Amino acid sequence: MKAVVARELCEPKDLTVEEMPDPEPKKGDVLVRVSAAALNFPDVLMIQGKYQVRPPLPFTPGLEVCGTVEALGEGAEGFEPGQRVMAQLAMGGFAELTTAPAIAVHAAPDSLSDAEAAAFPLVYQTSFFGLAYRAQLQRGESVLVHSAAGGVGLAAVQIAKALGAGKIIATVGSDEKLDVVREAGADVALNYQTEDWVARVKAETGGGVDVIYDPVGGPVGELCTKCIAFEGRIIVIGFTSGDFSTYRSNHILIKNYSVIGLHWGAYRFKNPARFDEGWRDLMQLQAKAGFKPVVGGTYSMDRIAEAMEHLRSRKAVGKLVMEW
Ligand SMILES: NC(=O)c1ccc[n+]([C@@H]2O[C@H](COP(=O)([O-])OP(=O)(O)OC[C@H]3O[C@@H](n4cnc5c(N)ncnc54)[C@H](OP(=O)(O)O)[C@@H]3O)[C@@H](O)[C@H]2O)c1
Repeated sequence: MKAVVARELCEPKDLTVEEMPDPEPKKGDVLVRVSAAALNFPDVLMIQGKYQVRPPLPFTPGLEVCGTVEALGEGAEGFEPGQRVMAQLAMGGFAELTTAPAIAVHAAPDSLSDAEAAAFPLVYQTSFFGLAYRAQLQRGESVLVHSAAGGVGLAAVQIAKALGAGKIIATVGSDEKLDVVREAGADVALNYQTEDWVARVKAETGGGVDVIYDPVGGPVGELCTKCIAFEGRIIVIGFTSGDFSTYRSNHILIKNYSVIGLHWGAYRFKNPARFDEGWRDLMQLQAKAGFKPVVGGTYSMDRIAEAMEHLRSRKAVGKLVMEW
């Protein structure tokens, strides 16, 4: 099979497309013939060795795919060869064939194209777990989503809307992205590079926002504490700024808010029942509300470097997808 390969920790331009041995499904695994694979921010961090997971070299990046079931490993049940599925993976998605544990493979709904189905699992589950389970978002509560035109951000805006949030405020890093977050359901869209977003959030919410979804971290995360409501919840999703945020415990106490972490992937190992339940709850909501990924670009396998550079340029909107 053909696959994208990182032979050493590297930059996107150093990735190669090579003929590799077909993977064998291990016990409990599903072998998937990939038709589309979506990019995620961690793909770039992973090939550079900057992600929390560092696969042994050489490895094939790629964390989520759509495709058809090719074969089942011993003990893997519930799928038929040829069935159209979407799957999230620890790595290995940018390839013609990949394997995933059966718990992380799901039937792809007809309402999603292959590119949309590939782009769905990781960011929608992250945003659903963050908003519905970790922050316990209630109907009518206001929500602030940072980097709202990115993968997890756009999913968070759509899911907040579907969960019945009150005012949804979305921030982005350039004016070109304002329209896409409005179309996804944001009531207020603003550019945090050019506007005093803390003052605007306070003005829009009468003092403070109930739930903040923060994939940026660094100074942006610290400023969130200035516009969070009484009993508000800040969900720490990631650190695209390249830095962690520092929260002051006395401030958390005095203002009565919570800072909540989310490592969605950990549920698969720590609480598989919740992991399964999350998928069912998310797909029920998706069937009702009809949200789907915005595919901001498609690429062939040999254009992986271009796709990754576009992703890290901050100009990408929604999800970038490799198709073959
Ligand atoms: N906690 C979890 O379980 C979980 C699961 C999945 C992903 N994540 C994390 O969520 C974050 C976003 O992932 P994603 O796949 O949605 O990313 P993405 O689609 O590539 O979006 C990243 C966006 O981050 C913003 N950003 C802000 N500061 C940046 C900087 N210094 N450099 C680059 N981008 C910057 C940019 O948008 P603007 O310029 O518009 O702000 C950029 O478009 C990542 O940190 C990822 O690791 C966490």
